[in-house]
Amino acid sequence: MAVEAGRDIAPAKGKLGVMLVGLGAVSTTFIAGVENVRRGRGLPIGSLSQMGTIRLGKRTEKRSPKIKEFVPLADLQDLVFAAWDPIPDDAYTAAVKAGVLERHEHLEPIKDFLQGIKPLPAAFDQYYVKRLQGTNLKRGKTKRELAEQLREDIRSFRKSAGVSRVVIVWCASTEVFITPVPAHQSLATFEKAMEQNDPAIAPSMLYAYAALMESVPFANGAPNLTVDVPALQHLAEERKIPIGGKDFKTGQTMMKTVLAPAFKARMLGLAGWYSTNILGNRDGEVLDDPESFKTKEESKLGVLEYILQPDQYPELYGNVFHKVRINYYPPRGDNKEGWDNIDIFGWLGYPMQIKVDFLCRDSILAAPIVLDLALFFDLAQRARLSGIQEWLSFYFKSPQTAPGLYPEHDLFIQQTKLKNTLRWLMGEEQITHLGIEYYEKA
Ligand SMILES: NC(=O)c1ccc[n+]([C@@H]2O[C@H](COP(=O)([O-])OP(=O)(O)OC[C@H]3O[C@@H](n4cnc5c(N)ncnc54)[C@H](O)[C@@H]3O)[C@@H](O)[C@H]2O)c1
Repeated sequence: MAVEAGRDIAPAKGKLGVMLVGLGAVSTTFIAGVENVRRGRGLPIGSLSQMGTIRLGKRTEKRSPKIKEFVPLADLQDLVFAAWDPIPDDAYTAAVKAGVLERHEHLEPIKDFLQGIKPLPAAFDQYYVKRLQGTNLKRGKTKRELAEQLREDIRSFRKSAGVSRVVIVWCASTEVFITPVPAHQSLATFEKAMEQNDPAIAPSMLYAYAALMESVPFANGAPNLTVDVPALQHLAEERKIPIGGKDFKTGQTMMKTVLAPAFKARMLGLAGWYSTNILGNRDGEVLDDPESFKTKEESKLGVLEYILQPDQYPELYGNVFHKVRINYYPPRGDNKEGWDNIDIFGWLGYPMQIKVDFLCRDSILAAPIVLDLALFFDLAQRARLSGIQEWLSFYFKSPQTAPGLYPEHDLFIQQTKLKNTLRWLMGEEQITHLGIEYYEKA
């Protein structure tokens, strides 16, 4: 097979600024985790970019470098952090309150470093996150003014931190459900809506707009609409900036996108899938509001429909009862418990059940995803990939795609897509898994 030359990728020279919207459980677990890893106090487990390898060429060639040695990624030592949050706690206080990492083992030794990260005033409006109140806020007459202040924050961070590149990852609370309206259609209508304080423009969109105007890639870790609107997609394409989302794929949905493809591969039928969660962190509290939950529910529900293709397999998947619940239960903190009851059926329609009880840790699963997204979005920018980065669907519950394309949810197809994109970027052969050449010698 002819191999393409690969892309010219600018080297990862200088420091990479990682600006996080939200300095809560996920962000602080990510930042504190990176610092612990940098000091040799832990391993970046769960991070494909740091721990993963990639097979190149034929199986007989035995070439499997680490991904971080194969593609030119920013080094962890070169990451510099900043964040916005309406709650004024510095990263140390926020991490202690989040209660994810063990204080004496992973926070006290890096206390000074964490205390140095103080949140910038946020573009925040309680209308979009009902269960939160904040005091560390930007003031402005219009949403446009707030967006301009966010742009100024990015410019000052570039200068003060001496970073050569910046990426932004949304790790803030889930906003209320919003559907696309004409205000989201073009840059002109979007900018006008910002000036008129149109409720269709959520704070997350102001961050995304500011990022794109400052040539900064933007990844959305929550299910909010945010950068998934035509106005911002066009802006990203025009300015050649990578964007992507939505909603980190961590616990229950990760399992769903592993199990559902297995049922489909074996042509086993599905009658119903009941998923419920108990969660006691601030994210759980925010999601206890029906309007924020609606945004999350849409993101979690889409997965099965796309994987199982009921139109193509009506006898197997034409009548699936799918239910997702998230219950706020403070005693568990960040340690979520997600239960799944799955009713499947086999040969001649005989029913069977599968139960999954995942005692997970939400932010422990999300932190490595934030790291990989920051590094891969920076790589994408240096490789001149722009607009929606579908190859990073691997990390999202509800991946953005080009208009007219359905999203790919199967975790292993997503992984193949990601690795093949890395091979393509570096001018290596795609791996098709055909392998006939091992058996049929010319
Ligand atoms: N942890 C996971 O497994 C997981 C998976 C998928 C998605 N998520 C999403 O990631 C996000 C973060 O989760 P978390 O557990 O860290 O929540 P968290 O509540 O601990 O932190 C979110 C922070 O965002 C801040 N915030 C809210 N609106 C803001 C705004 N407009 N500007 C700046 N900051 C703002 C809040 O004050 C809060 O400190 C949530 O939306 C969650 O749904 C998490």
